[in-house]
Amino acid sequence: MRTTTLGPARRAISVLGLGCMSMSHPGRDEEESLSVLRAALDAGITFLDTADKYGKGHNERLVGTAIAGRRDEVTVATKVGFVGSSRDAKPVDGSPDHIRRSCDASLERLGTDRIDLYYLHRVDPHVPIEESVGAMAALVEAGKVAQLGLSEVTVATLRRAWDVHPVAAVQSEYSIAAREVEEDVLPACRALGTTFVAYSPLGIGLLTGRVRTPDDLPPGNRLPKQSRMHDRHRAHNLRIVDELAAIAGDVGCTLPQLAIAWLLTRDVVPIPSSSRRSYLEDNLGALDVDLGEDVLARIDEVAPIGAFRGERKSSLGLRLVGR
Ligand SMILES: NC(=O)c1ccc[n+]([C@@H]2O[C@H](COP(=O)([O-])OP(=O)(O)OC[C@H]3O[C@@H](n4cnc5c(N)ncnc54)[C@H](OP(=O)(O)O)[C@@H]3O)[C@@H](O)[C@H]2O)c1
Repeated sequence: MRTTTLGPARRAISVLGLGCMSMSHPGRDEEESLSVLRAALDAGITFLDTADKYGKGHNERLVGTAIAGRRDEVTVATKVGFVGSSRDAKPVDGSPDHIRRSCDASLERLGTDRIDLYYLHRVDPHVPIEESVGAMAALVEAGKVAQLGLSEVTVATLRRAWDVHPVAAVQSEYSIAAREVEEDVLPACRALGTTFVAYSPLGIGLLTGRVRTPDDLPPGNRLPKQSRMHDRHRAHNLRIVDELAAIAGDVGCTLPQLAIAWLLTRDVVPIPSSSRRSYLEDNLGALDVDLGEDVLARIDEVAPIGAFRGERKSSLGLRLVGR
């Protein structure tokens, strides 16, 4: 497994991470999920992504079970901040008190005495970022957290956070289907020495090529909530997916592999979800896919920034990402 480094501390992590969120979606098989986690570690994936929100703590417990006895092999990233869904009046709590209490709860669920990367999942519009990051910095001082991260932030917020404490990673949605971060956040991360972690690298399933209608998605998948899958945009978006699948066919890889390999050429760390062994094996295959300049140019032609129509989140979800 090739490695890269995380933030200014330059901790080594695998170039490909594993998103664990879907393992806590309804109807998932816990044994299969654990087997995916263990197989990922065996394959050299050392960067696991969870959050206290996923399955209301279930996901952190699952990760804790998988890493028991293998703690030092892994960089565990978890997140704090969500206290409800985007439909709630107060979906996010970034207060110092909530951050302190949540960190202890996450440590307990993960069965560990330190979180390697602790993200603020969303910025609380009612709490200055300096206060939230200040509380997280105190957790670093206390030895409970090694490095700090932010998720879905603007460049201005990222810079304000850096004035309080180094930000090792920013995690935002980034894929061939959602390239907006290329315009601002991604270059800012590169300039600051902040690692960029690409969540939803497979477009929440759109870039797997298996999704033609919302009914094709497993329970818990949030793609149907976006306007991208609505009737007025779906045919357009699926045409782009088909063109990308044709490029993958010419390269000799699967569409998920093309989507992940494309991100790997951009020096970001993709964290695809996979709650099935077969998906994990497929996604690992991206590490052997070499995309030449001609292929990258074809992808740019088919799917430049803004090519996919519709919003990448529900209208309520968009309110929380500061765009
Ligand atoms: N910071 C944030 O706000 C935030 C937001 C969303 C996600 N995340 C993180 O990012 C990770 C990934 O994001 P995501 O789950 O939204 O989207 P994604 O990884 O782009 O897509 C996941 C979907 O694709 C399916 N899939 C994965 N590999 C596949 C393959 N090779 N062939 C066919 N289908 C495949 C998954 O199946 P399964 O359902 O079976 O896994 C799931 O339905 C999450 O696990 C989470 O850790 C962070």
